Amino acid sequence: MFGNGDEPPSNRSANAHIQDVVDAGRRKVLAGGAALGALAFLGGLPAMAGTAEPASVGAGLPFQRRSRLPFGAVSVTRADTVTVPAGYTAKAFIAWGTPICGSYPAYLEDASNSAHDQAQQTGMHHDGMHFFPIDAKFKGRKSDHGMLALNHEYIDAPLLHRNGPTVVNGKRVDADEVRKEINAHGVSIVEIRRNVRGDWAVLPSARNRRITGATPMRIEGPARGHDLMKTRYSPSGTSARGTLNNCANGHTPWGTYLTCEENWAGYFSSRDAELPRHLQRYGVRSTSRYGWETVQGDEFQRFDATQTAEDARADYRNEPNTFGWIVEIDPFDPDATPVKHTALGRFAHEGLVFAPVKPGWPVVCYSGDDSQNEYIYKYVSRDKYRPQRSDGSLLDEGTLYVARFNPDGSGNWLALDIDDAGFQQACATAGVDFVDQGDVMVNTRIAADVVGATKMDRPEWGAVHPDTGEVYFTLTNNSARQDADAANPRAPNLYGHIIRWREAGRNHAGTRFNWDLYLLAGPEGDSRDPRGKPLNDENILASPDGLWFDAEGRLWIQTDMSGSQLSSGPFGNNQMLVSDPRTGETKRFLVGPQGAEVTGITATPDFRTLFVNIQHPGEGSSATEYTSTWPDGPGRRPRSATVIISRDDGGRVL
Ligand code: FEO
Ligand code: CA
Ligand code: CA
Repeated sequence: MFGNGDEPPSNRSANAHIQDVVDAGRRKVLAGGAALGALAFLGGLPAMAGTAEPASVGAGLPFQRRSRLPFGAVSVTRADTVTVPAGYTAKAFIAWGTPICGSYPAYLEDASNSAHDQAQQTGMHHDGMHFFPIDAKFKGRKSDHGMLALNHEYIDAPLLHRNGPTVVNGKRVDADEVRKEINAHGVSIVEIRRNVRGDWAVLPSARNRRITGATPMRIEGPARGHDLMKTRYSPSGTSARGTLNNCANGHTPWGTYLTCEENWAGYFSSRDAELPRHLQRYGVRSTSRYGWETVQGDEFQRFDATQTAEDARADYRNEPNTFGWIVEIDPFDPDATPVKHTALGRFAHEGLVFAPVKPGWPVVCYSGDDSQNEYIYKYVSRDKYRPQRSDGSLLDEGTLYVARFNPDGSGNWLALDIDDAGFQQACATAGVDFVDQGDVMVNTRIAADVVGATKMDRPEWGAVHPDTGEVYFTLTNNSARQDADAANPRAPNLYGHIIRWREAGRNHAGTRFNWDLYLLAGPEGDSRDPRGKPLNDENILASPDGLWFDAEGRLWIQTDMSGSQLSSGPFGNNQMLVSDPRTGETKRFLVGPQGAEVTGITATPDFRTLFVNIQHPGEGSSATEYTSTWPDGPGRRPRSATVIISRDDGGRVL
């Protein structure tokens, strides 16, 4: 049924789909461009037929009928455990507080470990992660020994401390408590090995490392040394302390780990009556999430961005400008200083995903800004990729683009480059000035506003198909959307969707693309699977977030529902599904424990081990009342943890 390069034959059902959505009560939503978006979703794409690359999205491989998901779908459930299909086992691994380095301080059940202990134990709230084979630097693919690098996104203070956080008159009073919170953020890097029985263990390795919210880092790229980066800690604007709210992740073609600073603005406060644009546009407010700045001492007062001195080099007005970046970490060198790459833009970075690299071509990577009505970005390096010779400097000189999704299924990458004539024109029209490229990068969101990027429904993870190069992104939900558009066709968008695109001419470094919608999440009556059918018992989901392609081109989708969607919706606990773009088949593979988000996924090259993270089980627990007791069992404090998934027969996971 599918010819070479043809779209899946779903256009005949296009009208029906639109009608269904109209029938569901969103006639308004589908007016104008949004209707075209729905067409694009079905792959009929009459609008795309006239472009230079007719009907190219989703057409990269011959369509197949053979199922590549040979497992029984897991049912929706609210069980307080990790549920996987029959024939598979899931085991918790390196839960929060696991000793991994230094003096390997044991995890204390009553959460009485000190800040110093925490800096030698895995952090809280595991998020994105990547498995580096131990011989990765030499292009090796060893599957039973490697470095696992993982993010710790944020903390639940009631669970982090023995009796929850100590607050007196609205202020934090216990410095060690706050220091423990800072140390529970960041990244863990652990050397791990699989024995002949298939069991994994952490090795007592000198390479194991904790990177925290206080670890010294170097600033590179256009904002290095910029006036907006100068602080009392770094009057030269070339270094910074720590990485925070580390979400999703990335890994480079040269074997390093990337951690991404997402919702960092809430860690700061400013009491200034009027905030500069680089704080205002990013949501810095007069109070912070955890109140760290209320403790005496430079290590805490840096979270207060109020202007208190004559000169930026004598206070911390610019400290928030040292966050919102992609941070590169060498997982094999525990002494290497992490690098904040400012050419990749400053926003609520969810992750960073690379297009397949080609020697002699620029490196291209994509990143979403996960906030309501924010944007999707792409970076193209100036210099060319050279195997075995390229390094992180490729991420310091290049062009950052932002996406515009047109209603006809085409798209444009708009340069945020002070030397670009189009950008200069847009700035002049908008009456917005930037003094240099460092200023553009510190104010990435404003630059993207100026060029007319498309406001998206909270871009979360991206994933690039290993064979076709098509880029998929989750748009998790957007309760604030008031006007639907083609690429974000529901207003409000309660359930989220997955968008995908193909670069024109398959040139990832180019400036045009074609897009469609892969999946609309939601209950049976308000959803569409990749084949244009409603989702069903095997695959209803909401709030897609984590996204990853295995080496064979199956798309793994993780969810992050919260609030009433999680507690009383038809979706059960958060889950992970697998979807095959070749067939459109989509099945639930895993359901997480109570209150948890399922996020973070990586595998060994032999695909006999799949690593998945379970974040914030028992969310909403107090220091004494737990809404989940995963993974340790009844009466025990819930802990975020990695889950190791394997097949009982020892074979490939899929
Ligand atoms: Fe940290 Fe957007 O998820
Ligand atoms: Ca996420
Ligand atoms: Ca999320």
